[in-house]
Amino acid sequence: MTTVMEIKDLCKTYVVDKRQINVLKNVNLKVDEGEMVAIMGPSGSGKSTLLYSISGMDQATSGKVRFDGTDITEVKENELAEIRLDKMGFIFQQMFMMKNLTILDNILLPAFESKKGGSREEKIRKGEDLMRKLGIIDIADNDINEVSGGQLQRACICRSMINSPKILFADEPTGALNRTTSNEVMDELVKLNRGGTTIMMVTHDSRIASRCTRVLFIVDGNIKGEFNNDPDADDRTRERALNNWLMDLGW
Ligand SMILES: Nc1ncnc2c1ncn2[C@@H]1O[C@H](COP(=O)(O)OP(=O)(O)OP(=O)(O)O)[C@@H](O)[C@H]1O
Ligand SMILES: [Mg+2]
Repeated sequence: MTTVMEIKDLCKTYVVDKRQINVLKNVNLKVDEGEMVAIMGPSGSGKSTLLYSISGMDQATSGKVRFDGTDITEVKENELAEIRLDKMGFIFQQMFMMKNLTILDNILLPAFESKKGGSREEKIRKGEDLMRKLGIIDIADNDINEVSGGQLQRACICRSMINSPKILFADEPTGALNRTTSNEVMDELVKLNRGGTTIMMVTHDSRIASRCTRVLFIVDGNIKGEFNNDPDADDRTRERALNNWLMDLGW
């Protein structure tokens, strides 16, 4: 297995009113290509901070994050921006879509920003193909306030995939969705993962986490435990096994 991401002694400290808050405390982690990793843990334990620090969205205080052969804590800002654009996909709740653009144009934004990925026409075709795959092609020309939450979330997935990233980061991708829609969105993420995209996602939902390959449990800025879901078990058995493990950790 090829390691796609290696995190060494990662620390993140915020300073608020001259007071230091150590949010991540020497996190060590290796992620192999093709994994789908769920990050769970209590509110405030540092899950989002971890995702931001390893995706170059926020700067770590110390430690190393090696991604696809490059230490992204050491590269210059423009190089980091390029890596993020061409090799990483993001589904973060605070990354809103642009109000004055259609859904398709929002999806295409990162493609037009990138120097790679072929001609303008090819990019448009790819955007439409992705929308078709996720069952939202009918809303291509809608404004973002003319679609449902589930459709918008699927559009976010299309946008995160438009530059064919090596890795996808998602913070609570199903958090705002009802059970049926969240299952559907999860089906799409699992399909992407089976197609070869490595995924790291934060979730509070053990049903969602049980569909990932591995689950990390973070407490107080540290990985307290790891659980490998049984790839051969059925959904219910996986969920039950994960819940038992989580209960032992005090979830
Ligand atoms: N920009 C910031 N400045 C100061 N403190 C912050 C900042 N961002 C997060 N924190 C603090 O860091 C800690 C971890 O926050 P984080 O958002 O990573 O938690 P989380 O595990 O994602 O929680 P949740 O499940 O509620 O989303 C919290 O105590 C939070 O208050
Ligand atoms: Mg969070």
